[in-house]
Amino acid sequence: MELMVALDYPEVKQAAELADQLRGLPVTYKIGSELFLQMGLKGLHEFKKQWNASLFLDLKFHDIPNTVSRSIAQLMTYDLKYVTMHLSGGRSMMEASRQVVDQSKSTLQLLGVSVLTSFDEAEWKEVAVAIHPSPAPLADTVSAWVALGAQSGIHGVVCSGHEVSALKKAHPTLKFIIPGVRPDGFEKGPSDQKRVLTPSEVKKRGGDAIVVGRPITQNEQPKKIVEAILRDC
Ligand code: C5P
Repeated sequence: MELMVALDYPEVKQAAELADQLRGLPVTYKIGSELFLQMGLKGLHEFKKQWNASLFLDLKFHDIPNTVSRSIAQLMTYDLKYVTMHLSGGRSMMEASRQVVDQSKSTLQLLGVSVLTSFDEAEWKEVAVAIHPSPAPLADTVSAWVALGAQSGIHGVVCSGHEVSALKKAHPTLKFIIPGVRPDGFEKGPSDQKRVLTPSEVKKRGGDAIVVGRPITQNEQPKKIVEAILRDC
């Protein structure tokens, strides 16, 4: 499995310090909106160059097809590996984005975000009840959205490790990226991730990549924990 390190930092300096400590290790860096708003596209380019990094830009686009596909077009010159959009953005948004990637012969992979792993059934119901008075269970929503993504040109999806086995069976060509991962022995403590698994559990279930943030970024010895996680990948 691929290890994606979530650089959820407010400052570029902190991300650079971690990248320095992890130099030479085979990881992909996931840059979310918090850090991206600090570094901007220029900073992203510099970070890529300085650390020869494989990058995943996690901005979770969700807008009309024209806006999202033109945003994807903006990213074409930055040699990114992955970018995310919400599967709930719909077929036209995903198809238009895929068209931009194919037309520019880019290797950028579009990842669809299903239901965020911070949702549990109760919180999900609060959202879904706005669509239907007796909403489908969270897992059914995830499967339907992943199927839509697969039909609409998405390369992979981000989903909970609890859902990956069944989804992989239904969509063997999609890449499955799993957040909400906590390494063996990691002090869990209070967390907003409600459906967590260990790296080996994700691997057994057929995940292709894991996203790990705080267990690495808040660790005093990040290199050690990354090496341990890589052994389980
Ligand atoms: O710190 P932690 O390991 O919980 O970070 C997980 C990362 O994965 C965060 O950057 C979060 O935004 C992202 N993510 C998630 N659930 C999703 C999609 C992305 O937690 N469904």
